[in-house]
Amino acid sequence: MDAHDLLTIGEVADRSGFPASALRFYEREGLLRTTRTSGGQRRYERSVLRRLAFIRAARTIGVGLDEVREGLDRLPDGRTPTKADWSRLSRAWRGRLDEQIEALVALRDGLDSCIGCGCLSLARCRLYNPDDRAAEAGSGARLLPPLLRRTPAQGV
Ligand code: FES
Repeated sequence: MDAHDLLTIGEVADRSGFPASALRFYEREGLLRTTRTSGGQRRYERSVLRRLAFIRAARTIGVGLDEVREGLDRLPDGRTPTKADWSRLSRAWRGRLDEQIEALVALRDGLDSCIGCGCLSLARCRLYNPDDRAAEAGSGARLLPPLLRRTPAQGV
């Protein structure tokens, strides 16, 4: 491949809208591949832009990085996702999105009795402890629906 066909990290950041720090993070996470110049600078194939579009679209619908990686890893030879790939993977993610919507609706419905209250009582707050699930689930942060639990590292 001609070196002129390769993009610098600044060019990829400009064209994709991702900050350079996110590009480096995705590389560390195995979502993007780069080559290096003799001086050690990153260079990206142009197809990385479509890969980043895929990542952004998946993240927008709430797909975690692990699932994005899994989807990309299933593509032969690490190829760039095609329209058909996106269609197939996004269909598989739709069910999960429906579950997230249901969980959010349940949260919204529990909010009515909490407006203006603020007690956040384990004993009586439906939003904080719906159906007294906290007692059944054991210790730890159990009160958000599983699909809405996200660690800061997953938020990238
Ligand atoms: S905050 Fe008081 S019932 Fe939810």
